Amino acid sequence: MKHKLFLMATMVLVLMFSLQAACFAAGPANLPAIKILATGGTIAGAGSTSSTTVGYTAAVAPVDALINNVPELKKVANISGEQIAQIASENMTNEVWLTLAKRINQLLSQDDVDGIVITHGTDTLEETAYFLHLVVKSDKPVVLVGSMRPPTAMSADGMLNLYRAVILAGSKEAVGKGVLVMLNDTIHSGRDVTKTITDRVDTFKAPEIGPLGFFTGDKPVFYRSPLRQHTTASEFDIMKLSTLPRVDIVYHYANNSGTAIEAFTKAGAKGIVHAGTGNGSIGKAEYPAVEAAQKKGVVIVRTSRVGNGIVARNGEADDDKYNFVAGDNLNPQKARILLMLALTRTSDPKVIQEIFWTY
Ligand code: DGL
Repeated sequence: MKHKLFLMATMVLVLMFSLQAACFAAGPANLPAIKILATGGTIAGAGSTSSTTVGYTAAVAPVDALINNVPELKKVANISGEQIAQIASENMTNEVWLTLAKRINQLLSQDDVDGIVITHGTDTLEETAYFLHLVVKSDKPVVLVGSMRPPTAMSADGMLNLYRAVILAGSKEAVGKGVLVMLNDTIHSGRDVTKTITDRVDTFKAPEIGPLGFFTGDKPVFYRSPLRQHTTASEFDIMKLSTLPRVDIVYHYANNSGTAIEAFTKAGAKGIVHAGTGNGSIGKAEYPAVEAAQKKGVVIVRTSRVGNGIVARNGEADDDKYNFVAGDNLNPQKARILLMLALTRTSDPKVIQEIFWTY
């Protein structure tokens, strides 16, 4: 009997050591190499007390601090970080976008980089995500992550968001899905996601379309893929650009006039996104400014301030007569990104309309 027990104990020990050896063998060499590019935001913020979730300072912690604050990262990926910017994202600029996009394309062309995570403020995260969705030239995962509470707050959401974003960026499931946004256990497409609540962790939604998938524990689960063209199927190339065409957004409301359109045209806008009422309606009082702008070559895209639904051609405006572009289901800030990139290729409204049906 004793002999049998000894044999069983020995077998258990051998099994434990072989499992441990297997885990060690599956160590760093088998972990995905993930680069974290930091731009600032609340995820790098600091509040004065542990209950401060508004009135904190965004964009203070450097990328290494973000990484060191989540030691678990090293168990799921070979991590390294770069500080691209340190800004609250309401201050995001075309220059940062171009720097970020070029660095991403450079890194993803390397065999020793498997995916990229971008830490970012939530205010303009949806804009950066869509811009990168249209200009990244790789199928490797690119995941934007932020937080609604600073790391100094109780139940801060940033650490777990970052941990899961790194897992997602190293996952085979995320390959070829375009640029993704990961917060609050939810995986969104860079095209469809938008910030819907000013101050809560469940703020990011894709109205009417929904998420691509979710995290269940530490596992990403996808239920659909984006249909519109993106990344390697995108015609837009920013690698040789140092600037982007100026495109502004005009918000329409009762009693509005053409003053904003006149001002943006005078400022040199090459395109104007009109955030119209209802199904993208333009007010009668705006038309003199609209026609003056178009005489100067300004391309006008009709979107809606409503936030949901499709702005169809020749619905609330005679698009054929006025050569307007209908913005499909993109909100004004997303339509601005697509119009900016379209204007790097053409200023023909008919061609730009096809672009809006494609991306
Ligand atoms: N200033 C805002 C920004 O950087 C804070 C919001 C956030 O990052 O969550 O986008």
